[in-house]
Amino acid sequence: MIRRGSACGKIILLGEHAVVYGFPAVAIPVRSLQTRAELSEGTAPLRITAPLIGLDAPMTNLPSGHPLAVCIRLTAETLGMAPPGGRLTITSDIPVASGMGSGAAVSTAIVRVLASAAGRNLPAAEISRIVFAVEQIHHGTPSGVDNTVIAHEMPIYFQPGEEPETLAVGAPMHLLIADSGVHSKTRIAVGGVRERRDADPARYDGLFRQIGGLAKEGRAHLESGNIPLLGKTMDRCHELLRAIEVTIPALDRLVEAARQAGAYGAKLSGAGLGGNIIALADPPLLPAVETALRESGAADVFRTDLEP
Ligand code: MEV
Repeated sequence: MIRRGSACGKIILLGEHAVVYGFPAVAIPVRSLQTRAELSEGTAPLRITAPLIGLDAPMTNLPSGHPLAVCIRLTAETLGMAPPGGRLTITSDIPVASGMGSGAAVSTAIVRVLASAAGRNLPAAEISRIVFAVEQIHHGTPSGVDNTVIAHEMPIYFQPGEEPETLAVGAPMHLLIADSGVHSKTRIAVGGVRERRDADPARYDGLFRQIGGLAKEGRAHLESGNIPLLGKTMDRCHELLRAIEVTIPALDRLVEAARQAGAYGAKLSGAGLGGNIIALADPPLLPAVETALRESGAADVFRTDLEP
């Protein structure tokens, strides 16, 4: 029998990095990009095929701390079963190392397919808990925002230490996500910020507080449907992300191109040092913004919309 599980991508609208230090963030799901996990049940040991990372091996060949092995083990423990046999195939549209939650989406899809094999439907909070444990292997000190938004598949306001709040948008919202084509590891970007923060805590904590303030402000604009003001909030956030040194010229070029082409606002999204920028624009301007992004070096451009 074949079982299937899937998970969406994500982008952080506001609050990245500061969220690692306890400040709030706003993140949204990107449902147009999906990771799929397919389990064709058979004999043990489970064989894992994941072309995106060049993997095709029995689970027993993976080191015990391998994120995929940990994810399967933790999920099986939660479900009170042994890891299944057969073949687990993982495919994904989500670009890797680009700030769109590819790792968390792989884990979420695996948890869902194993739960389906066990005839269970795990609540989003439980899926998020397992995926967070796997994220700790990838990133060291994840805030928990990625696993939360991907497991809930809803826009969220994420305040570390509190229950995530799902958000309803007050007006249609259209975003372009432009991949700079520069791969960047979250662990490296987060580690760099930590070093600079340790060297100058007062300055960095002040910057994190301002970023958190923008997340709070942006949440209000998103809920009331004030898209122009949300765009301005994104612009201000990009400047603060520049102050903590996570932007690079390739990202700045894309942000500037989107603004020049008429976007309400644009910023890098996620850990930075590569990965994506996001731009908020009215539908009639989206083609011009997309062209400007491609002409300014975007390796790919994706669109995502949120409706009230
Ligand atoms: C990565 O998607 C977002 C960061 O804030 C890290 C985290 O929240 O764990 C940079």
